[in-house]
Formats: sequence, structure tokens, C-alpha cells
Amino acid sequence: MENANLKNFGLIGCGAIAKLHAKAICNIENARLVGVYDYSYEFAQRFASEHNCIAYKTLEELLECAEIDIVNICTPSGLHAEQIIKAANAKKHIIVEKPMAITKEQLDAAIESIDRNNVKVEVVSQLRFTPAIQKLKTAIESGAMGKILFADFKMKYYRSAEYYKKGGWRGTWKMDGGGALMNQGIHGIDLVQYLIGGVKSVYADCRTLAREIEVEDTANILVEYGNGAIGVIQCTTVAEPGYPRTIEVTGTKGTVIIKEDVIERWDLEESQEIECKTSLFNSGSDPMAFSEKFHEMQFMDLIEAINKNKQPLVDHNEGRKPVEIILASYKSSKIGKRVELL
Ligand SMILES: NC(=O)c1ccc[n+]([C@@H]2O[C@H](COP(=O)([O-])OP(=O)(O)OC[C@H]3O[C@@H](n4cnc5c(N)ncnc54)[C@H](O)[C@@H]3O)[C@@H](O)[C@H]2O)c1
Repeated sequence: MENANLKNFGLIGCGAIAKLHAKAICNIENARLVGVYDYSYEFAQRFASEHNCIAYKTLEELLECAEIDIVNICTPSGLHAEQIIKAANAKKHIIVEKPMAITKEQLDAAIESIDRNNVKVEVVSQLRFTPAIQKLKTAIESGAMGKILFADFKMKYYRSAEYYKKGGWRGTWKMDGGGALMNQGIHGIDLVQYLIGGVKSVYADCRTLAREIEVEDTANILVEYGNGAIGVIQCTTVAEPGYPRTIEVTGTKGTVIIKEDVIERWDLEESQEIECKTSLFNSGSDPMAFSEKFHEMQFMDLIEAINKNKQPLVDHNEGRKPVEIILASYKSSKIGKRVELL
């Protein structure tokens, strides 16, 4: 008998993150990977044989497959917007890897096509789904932290010169859209803006200190949040051997510190709880050292949004926010002035 709840997935771009997407789809009951496309047909065939699905020769063929409900975009970042537009025009729902797009024009065009075609989009920001971030979000919203005064995000990662040579797109403006901020830092930037409620202005200093790349390998940003709180964002990919990403939020009732996905300090007036557990992430030194569990939760959020006709947690309007903060930071660094966002 046909399973009315079954969602069929088609995946574009069969590289590193695609493996994790395939694993996450496989873990979900009522989800199935039907087919894949990569501009290297050889990559697509290899991936398809490993995951027992079809390798399509063209993107159009994949998008024409009526069985496919959801398309996962796992290609280099500079291709996301044009592929979102093609998938939305084919009336497919979409999971797109971060960043959703890398320029303002691309964001506008992608969002217009999503709204016009009335499809649902989940932009990957898997850390929003970790229990530590959810718990901190609840504490902020319930008033348990009091008035938020400052929120800092520090990311001292290590990505080797070889890492930037792999795939031929990393570290380029055209395909990566930026460096330490647009590729790696975007996760933490999305988290602080999500937790505190938007960024009002940035004053940034972006530099290329140690890698031979077009884009920044290091950036410092002074941030003013929408609610008047302030903070510091520090991102680098040249701190060997690479350290855990840290988020520190201080309110009038105390401070919470999160390292990767683990709550390190929970110093609030109302509870002094510290949760100590093993991290599911080690992204400081290894770009792929994390669990598929939180991608899986995001995919389930999209499936629920489709079934109940509601917006996913990280929809296209949410996906736009961290990219706008990063683009404003690039502008600020270039002109040497604070740039307003809200
Ligand atoms: N959420 C996360 O934590 C996370 C982690 C890693 C990467 N990513 C994101 O995933 C995306 C891909 O990164 P990756 O590390 O898997 O890269 P990758 O280079 O390993 O894989 C990209 C794949 O896309 C294919 N490709 C290139 N151009 C194509 C085209 N025009 N059409 C179809 N396929 C094409 C390549 O052949 C390759 O197989 C990036 O946007 C990156 O920011 C997200």
C-alpha cells in the first residue's frame, strides 16, 4: 500500500556534507533518498551506488522527477541561489546548506522565487537545534537572564592551506562568498542573532593574515544588537590546532557559556546548574567532525512544516539574517565605519 506520509528527497552536489545529508535522511522514518545529481557524473554515480538511488545526468532530470518532494542543495555556496530558484520553479520544497546565498542580489532573487512558488525552505543552521542553544533561548525568552547586556561569539578554528585548495571553490569570493565569517563563522553569527533577537549595527575589521586566499581568514566585529545589548564576534581559521566555538551571553541575572554544543557555565540567579557531557562536535580542527543528528532534526522540522502547512524554524527569511550581518561586516571593514542593519 502507498505510504501517504513518505517524503522523497533528491540531492544536488555529492561532496562532503552530502554524505551527512544522506545519513540524516536514512535515519528518518518516512524519508527516502530517491536520486542525486553532481556536475561530475562519476561522483553522482559513486554516491548513488553507495546510497542505493538514481544518479541523474542533469539537474533538470532530477527536478523533473515527480516523485521528489524535497531537494537538498549541497553544492558550493555561490551556486545555492540559482539552484534554489530552479528547484522552487519546479515546485520542490528545499533544504539548502548555509549560507543560503552569498550576495544581496542573490538573496533577493532566491526569496522572490520561494515566495512566488509558495514552497517551503529550511536553511541549514543545525546548531539552533542543539539542546544547549534551545535551553539558552528559553532562558532568555522567559526572562531568567534578566535584561541581556552582552553576547559574544568566539571561533578560533584551524583550516590548513590544503583545505582551501580542495574542491577549487573554498576561499574565493565567487563561490565561498567570504572566508572565516561566510563559511565557518556563519553558524555562531546565526546563533547570537537568533538568541538575542537581531543585529542593529556592526563595526568590523576583516583581514587575510595567514592564508593565500582572496577572502578573510580572520575578523573582529563589534556588534550592537536590536535590543541594545552589545558584543564581540571574533572569527579565525588560522589558529592551530583549532579550538571550540564559544558563545557567552550575560544578562542582569547572570551568564551562560556554551562551548560547541555543551553548556559550560550556567551562572544564573535562579539556578546554578552546569550540564557536563561529551560534545558531538569537534569542528575547531576538523570541518566534518560533527554528528548528523541536528541536520536530521532540521529535516524533520521541514517535513512537519510541509505536513502542517506552517513555516520551518529556519525559513528563507531567517536564512537571510546571518548573511546580511556578514555582508554588512565586509562593507564596514572596507569603509572603516560602523554599518547599520535594522
Ligand atoms: N552545515 C554545515 O555544518 C556544513 C559543513 C560543511 C559544508 N557545508 C556547506 O555545504 C556546501 C558544500 O560544502 P562541501 O564541504 O560538501 O563541499 P564539497 O566540495 O565537498 O562538495 C561540493 C560538491 O558539489 C559538486 N558541484 C560543484 N558544482 C556543481 C554544480 N554546478 N552542480 C552540481 N554539483 C556541483 C562538486 O562536484 C562536489 O561533489 C557549502 O555551501 C558549505 O558551506 C555546511
